[in-house]
Amino acid sequence: AKTHYHDFVVQSTKVTRLCKTRTSITVNGQLPGPTLEVNNGDSLVIKVVNKAKYNVTIHWHGVRQMRTAWADGPEFITQCPIRPGGSYTYRFIISGQEGTLWWHAHSSWLRATVYGAIVIRPKEGDSYPFAKPKGDSVIILAEWWNANPVDVIRQATRTGGAPNVSDAYTINGQPGDLYNCSRKDTVIVPWNSGDTKLIRVINAALNQQLFFTIANHKLTVVGADASYVKPFTTSVLMLGPGQTTDVLINGDQPPGQYYIAARAYASAQGAPFDNTTTTAILNYKNSPNPASNPIMPSLPPFNDTRTATAFTTSFRSPGKTLVPTTIDENLFITAGLGINQCPPKSKNSTCQAPNGTRFTASMNNVSFVLPSNYSLLQAHHQGIPGVFTTDFPARPPVSFDYTGNVSRSLWQPVRGTKVYNLKYGARVQVVLQGTSIFTAENHPIHLHGYDFYVVAEGFGNFDPKTDTAKFNLVDPPLRNTVSLPVKGWAVIRFVADNPGTWIMHCHLDVHIGWGLAMVFVVDNGVGQLETLEQPPEDLPVC
Ligand code: C2O
Repeated sequence: AKTHYHDFVVQSTKVTRLCKTRTSITVNGQLPGPTLEVNNGDSLVIKVVNKAKYNVTIHWHGVRQMRTAWADGPEFITQCPIRPGGSYTYRFIISGQEGTLWWHAHSSWLRATVYGAIVIRPKEGDSYPFAKPKGDSVIILAEWWNANPVDVIRQATRTGGAPNVSDAYTINGQPGDLYNCSRKDTVIVPWNSGDTKLIRVINAALNQQLFFTIANHKLTVVGADASYVKPFTTSVLMLGPGQTTDVLINGDQPPGQYYIAARAYASAQGAPFDNTTTTAILNYKNSPNPASNPIMPSLPPFNDTRTATAFTTSFRSPGKTLVPTTIDENLFITAGLGINQCPPKSKNSTCQAPNGTRFTASMNNVSFVLPSNYSLLQAHHQGIPGVFTTDFPARPPVSFDYTGNVSRSLWQPVRGTKVYNLKYGARVQVVLQGTSIFTAENHPIHLHGYDFYVVAEGFGNFDPKTDTAKFNLVDPPLRNTVSLPVKGWAVIRFVADNPGTWIMHCHLDVHIGWGLAMVFVVDNGVGQLETLEQPPEDLPVC
């Protein structure tokens, strides 16, 4: 196994998209940032130097961080931010994961432009569980704002309303030729007729689940979130922010140009969203006429929950899994949006959500608040009192018809930095239940520090009496982000075998800011494996 050394310089860079130039925060001046290419088993040492004017941290999304909790990266959870002028070196090992992950800033909305791919090839000497592809390409889907994204979220926080939607989706940083001024920069993916290549699709968008397809080509799904899956064929993918999907594409079509395209899967009713389509071009090398019009695929309509669900429920693990068949901890966690009454007038904030309220979001009625003077991990490690409380509830304080038409007065979230303690080694089940108190929508729920098995999902309210029978305890897929269906539920299982403070949150960034998050603390305080490791010397302090 190798060790890979990288320098990531976070800096201000002039970037032009859609005919407008603005200063963006980038890594090494690149958008997307550098791709990390490793083999399973390799180590990474990445020195992040902050030359920008914002605080920043980098999160290695989906990397298990087994016994390297201090390298996970979410701001105020596992570390204080890297101040302008500061630096921090992340050291971790890729172990037991193969496929595609990614990295992104985990501070404010900086991840809009601070992100990149992590390509994990098989362990040296090992092969893919399918015929070796003739090369691979990364496709990172993201969102672009003409305004500075940090200003967009700051303004929304001030007003209490929803932030402005993006101005474009992008593929590898480029909107593509359906947008103004973008044609000449459209990403071209070259192809030889007859070649089968592995395409690694990542949804790095801030706030939008996306449908993805390639005109006239079959997509054979072979992996997701850096785990292999039982191969299946589809014409369209749906990815929530945070999710990755690896697909094999066979160049079996007549030579020509075919659009690769993505656009919104928008499950929230009535909420505005960016309804544009981003494209790249799959270009056969021996095409007769490279200037001809590429063939356009058809993508599902934005509200096509049927297609989205058919896709997300097609995943199976390729063989026997280690899914826990008995459980020690059984949590029921609601996830959804809400609104708060307007607090007494202050000159820094207004209440521009419907009926003079402010948007909020919660898990089990708790709107998560990030600490500010310590990271949770540091506070936990040093026993600093007053930073968090350990009373995150294992189930909601009141139960009612979560997906029905219920009174908003039933659900006024409380704000707090509440964590839930898990014993090292506990076999954990979490029933995630979407709510529709304010509006119903999908929530891509991401857990740090673990992969989890998705043993079941469904619509309506989870009913332990009947839904338990639907659990797949044979070959459920292993993921790090699950698309909690609109007005529905999902059940995940994992073993708490990694000490640390691990945030679980909705990966729609607007929802994190509103509080759709909670934190698990795993640390028995005895035994080498069961106890949190010591922090590195250059860990940033607040
Ligand atoms: Cu990809 Cu907490 O994030």
